[in-house]
Amino acid sequence: MCGIVGYIGIENSKDVVLEGLKRLEYRGYDSAGIFLSNGESHETHKVKGGVDKLKELVSKKSSINSNISIAHTRWATHGLPNKNNAHPHISNSGELILVHNGIIENYDEIKKELISRGYQFNSDTDSEILINLIEEIKIKDKLTLFEAVKVALSQIVGAYGLVCFDKNNTESLVVARLGSPLCIGIKKDGFFVGSDATPFIDSTRDVIYLEDFEMTELKCGSSIKIYNVKTNEFTSPNIETLKWNLESIQKGGYSHFMLKEIFEQPKAIENTFSGRLIERNKTIKLSGLDDLVDRIDDFKRIIIIGCGTSWHAGLVGEYLFEKLIRIPVEVEYASEFRYRNPIISSDDFVIVISQSGETADTLEALKIAKQSGAYVFGICNVVGSSIARETFSGLYTHAGPEIGVASTKAFLTQIAALQMLALKLASIKKTLNKEQISNYFDELKAVPIKISQLLKNSEKIKKIAQYFFNSNNALFLGRGFNFPVALEGALKMKEISYIHSEGYPAAEMKHGPIALVDKDMPVIIIATRIGNYEKIVSNVQEIKSRNGKVISIVSEGDQIVKNLSDDYIEIPKSNEIFTPFYATIPLQLLSFHVAIERGCNVDQPRNLAKSVTVE
Ligand code: M6R
Repeated sequence: MCGIVGYIGIENSKDVVLEGLKRLEYRGYDSAGIFLSNGESHETHKVKGGVDKLKELVSKKSSINSNISIAHTRWATHGLPNKNNAHPHISNSGELILVHNGIIENYDEIKKELISRGYQFNSDTDSEILINLIEEIKIKDKLTLFEAVKVALSQIVGAYGLVCFDKNNTESLVVARLGSPLCIGIKKDGFFVGSDATPFIDSTRDVIYLEDFEMTELKCGSSIKIYNVKTNEFTSPNIETLKWNLESIQKGGYSHFMLKEIFEQPKAIENTFSGRLIERNKTIKLSGLDDLVDRIDDFKRIIIIGCGTSWHAGLVGEYLFEKLIRIPVEVEYASEFRYRNPIISSDDFVIVISQSGETADTLEALKIAKQSGAYVFGICNVVGSSIARETFSGLYTHAGPEIGVASTKAFLTQIAALQMLALKLASIKKTLNKEQISNYFDELKAVPIKISQLLKNSEKIKKIAQYFFNSNNALFLGRGFNFPVALEGALKMKEISYIHSEGYPAAEMKHGPIALVDKDMPVIIIATRIGNYEKIVSNVQEIKSRNGKVISIVSEGDQIVKNLSDDYIEIPKSNEIFTPFYATIPLQLLSFHVAIERGCNVDQPRNLAKSVTVE
């Protein structure tokens, strides 16, 4: 995934675009570049590294006052992360400029043809091939840039979000989207383009989200017409007014986005509940299910699809649905599901979970489920994202933008969404009686306030982090509803602190992982006073008798596990279905503090990008 920003108008485009690009760094940060133009003079600047480095270079080297710019922050897919492969890419004549997010799958074929006709390439990227293909078509057929892009797009296979510019026609930018998000910000005296709206949200709230196969030409003083490359039709755009503000995407006083997002969770969950938990009659209102009520009994199985943290949330969903509505559930990694010819039918209710709504594997798995006749329901955070649009219905988590690469508030809001869905289905299917639903309702409603209390433990957790941040390995254990939480805890730890961490069902420990336990191995065990409490106490004893270092997550008031542990964190007592909300918080904070102690880049861990829009 990469970040794209563009501007054409009357403002100083250099500052506008560089500032915007900084806000998109969560999408990739291995190299960055910018093209600047005032219609007569043009400049291109590129760096290996992040946007700050690019800003520095531009402030030293740039000598023009530009009003047109396109810029890019890259997460490498084709070619190493270096200056040559950084965008913008320039055509052989030097006249056409392109920034591109996505992958051109038939790039090799096109490259060979272009080379045979004399084209040369300076980078290893598929994007440079695309801009030269556009150039060749433009020259050969004497077309405008817009027309040449149209033709080129019909010849490529793959995904793109692109912005291009022609030095011979400095009045406009051409933008197109297939599979990689792009939106346009509209102002009276200029247009912005962004991979999302964050780069320009403080300048305008009027936005057009381009759909797949759509392209347009942004010309100051002209109204926008959207062209669909599939239907060959022009339409008027659908202009939306955004409600998110800039503050909501900045750090808000926290040192890191991840920390801010951990602390935002009570509010984020409240937002997920908002308008859906109806206090008056203790019911759940999910408009995404309104048209489905009569069909619910036809569904014989639930399949949950996601990747990474979203997959872990799906696993919590499995425990929830099976317990509350007694229907078989399968939880699938999207990347496996899409390639194994899964057996799906119209009896299946498929829940697709994705924070970004743009994860390539999840999107593809969704399409396969849809083609096989299943009902597909989405749980996404990003409004208007590809997955949200592809599903038949769904519910947005409304967690607000998640910038930290490590997912935190996305996880708990996904669980909040699954909880509401499970309760709603239980009331439709009558697997729970009114009193049970009312009790669950009250506990669910109380989750944000209890999490706020729990967050006060951050300093204590910082101390725990101090004495085990030097380890090379860690084990995370949990049973039942807390097993997915253990997996999530291990994922958080490994992705931001680079400590090798494994999550396991606690009882599985004796089938292998126990061999790893020694005095240097911290074992984080979720041992709440629910479900199989006695069994988990035995698991703790097994670790202690092998000199393992035990950090336990225990229910308030617990004495047994507390006494056995080297250190502990208390979480509120609750029905077992709600423990993931509480057990997750200390694990998120622990991974954060450990990563800080180890001097890691918490918000932008190495080799990772926020949303994986390629296979
Ligand atoms: O946007 P999505 O929820 O589809 O993303 C799925 C995973 O890429 C994501 O959860 C990833 O595992 C995070 N880095 C975890 O913190």
